[in-house]
Amino acid sequence: MRKPLIAGNWKMNGLRADLNEIVAMGKATSPALRSRTELLLCVPATLLFTSAAVVIGSGIRVGAQDCHAKASGAHTGDISAPMLFDAGASAVIVGHSERRTDHAEKDADVLAKADAAIAAGLTAIICVGETKAQRESGKALDVVRKQLRGSVPKGGLAADIVIAYEPVWAIGTGLTPTNADIAEMHADIRRTLKSILAKGEADKCRLLYGGSVKPSNAAEILALEDVDGALVGGASLKATDFMAIAGAV
Ligand code: PGA
Repeated sequence: MRKPLIAGNWKMNGLRADLNEIVAMGKATSPALRSRTELLLCVPATLLFTSAAVVIGSGIRVGAQDCHAKASGAHTGDISAPMLFDAGASAVIVGHSERRTDHAEKDADVLAKADAAIAAGLTAIICVGETKAQRESGKALDVVRKQLRGSVPKGGLAADIVIAYEPVWAIGTGLTPTNADIAEMHADIRRTLKSILAKGEADKCRLLYGGSVKPSNAAEILALEDVDGALVGGASLKATDFMAIAGAV
């Protein structure tokens, strides 16, 4: 009942010349693939409008990587959720660990951004995950529960919210948790969501795993219970890698 979602995160990568990768992804989709999985590519804001045009008819949707918590106003350099929607986004990542670290975003900031995204008609992809030190000291589950309670809208709906579990130490490092650790965390996230989301929504909410997902490990990770897709960084930059991961669903 939960359709898998394979979401790419281009981060601060991509010039117009790289649109040809998105064109290639669009060409590589098939009705069979689309019936099995949803595909989303979160591009830099500068490429959003053009990417949205490029993917028309391919079944791939485009999204953004952050938004401001306010809809408009005197916030030089920031981009609001309605602006992203207007440019063609259907989703936005909020609370990525790189935002939490580089811009000191706290759970309350992430919650405000998620609320803004949903109000603008976007799916909020809310990221959580522990650091290496937190995992090694046995605190991973507690850390993620606290992040969920602080950053996921109370009474939220599964149609508006996707959770991405991304251990900070697995992002861009080539390291991944064991399958047992991923499965344990995802089961715990779903349990925690039962006390946050509206009644009955936790079982419908998609939980993505992110952190060094690549064609060679995608199949085993995506086969785990309570893993409903992946958030893919580095391996989403190339159409061949991204489509191989999608094909592993
Ligand atoms: P990675 O990044 O796949 O390059 O590890 C994942 C992410 O940060 O979303």
